Amino acid sequence: MAVASSRFPFTPFPRGWFYFELSTNMAADKLVSRHWMGEEVIGWRGPDGQVCVASAFCPHLGAKLSPDCGGTLMDGQLVCPFHGFTYDTTGACVSTPFAAPSPACRLRVFPAEEINRFVFAYFDESGHEPDWRLPGMPEAGWTRTLTHLYSLKTHPQETSENVIDLSHLTFLHGFDGVGHSGRSEIDGPCFKTDFRFDGGYHFPLLRGFRTELSAIVQIWGLGFLFVETVSQSLGTRTLNWFLATPVDGENVDILVSAKVQALGSGGMKVLNLVPKWLREQLLLPLVMHEFKKNIERDFMIWENKAYKERPLLNKADGDIARFRRYCTQFYPA
Ligand code: FES
Ligand SMILES: [Fe+2]
Repeated sequence: MAVASSRFPFTPFPRGWFYFELSTNMAADKLVSRHWMGEEVIGWRGPDGQVCVASAFCPHLGAKLSPDCGGTLMDGQLVCPFHGFTYDTTGACVSTPFAAPSPACRLRVFPAEEINRFVFAYFDESGHEPDWRLPGMPEAGWTRTLTHLYSLKTHPQETSENVIDLSHLTFLHGFDGVGHSGRSEIDGPCFKTDFRFDGGYHFPLLRGFRTELSAIVQIWGLGFLFVETVSQSLGTRTLNWFLATPVDGENVDILVSAKVQALGSGGMKVLNLVPKWLREQLLLPLVMHEFKKNIERDFMIWENKAYKERPLLNKADGDIARFRRYCTQFYPA
């Protein structure tokens, strides 16, 4: 396991659900490998299509099981390149070429789930099973999902704190009328908040136009941040997933994604002249472009800031202190 970064007074690998891969990149006969949560892991689908995320090291004598090291799949089961032990998606060794498998010979598997075509796995350093699940969103009536992957030197607590930190939306992002409707809500592993703002567009053809947004944010642990946004001026409802996954104690992969739905009314008059499906296809890349441009403004701050354990907060800072208390449930006591 990688050494914890000294930038933060807590582990870089909190417990919780963390993004692993896009469902579309996990074909039935494909073994994938990743650095994920300080571990080297592999993932594949069993014969029933169920996804599996597991340690990349064989419990027999430690051979690496990734495809570049000779790991292979046979009928949805993983075959070690060293002595041919075969594992199912529960981690059980189901056969060896030479003797009956020992029940104690088990591959370490991480609980895994597929939600909205994202594959997540649950990490807990102490090996406990999850007692909560991530929410899924209805797919019907929405466009396809656009995604983009970034890699940054930061911590997932810092990237999630960004949506609680209202005053930076004005100063760093240049939005007007920033506010939210009330206090954030905490329900176990879920932190809910909202915000609204007015602002301009980054997209070249739309410079000079103004938009207003109202957003509802759901945070489920430190690896899953979901925002549902409505823009009456653009005539869209947008879903954005922001999935932060610690890699090695220093780098964090951040998968951002967007899908849209055109509202029945509202929006720019010129756009309302085209059919709804075409409007959605035109608006999806625009919405993704704006989302990326907005969060890219945060990157220089995230990669270089110090973590202040006792920040000097004021009334305009929103619920940052409350959010930090919520986060403590994902760290070892
Ligand atoms: S090390 Fe994997 S089968 Fe021996
Ligand atoms: Fe930001």
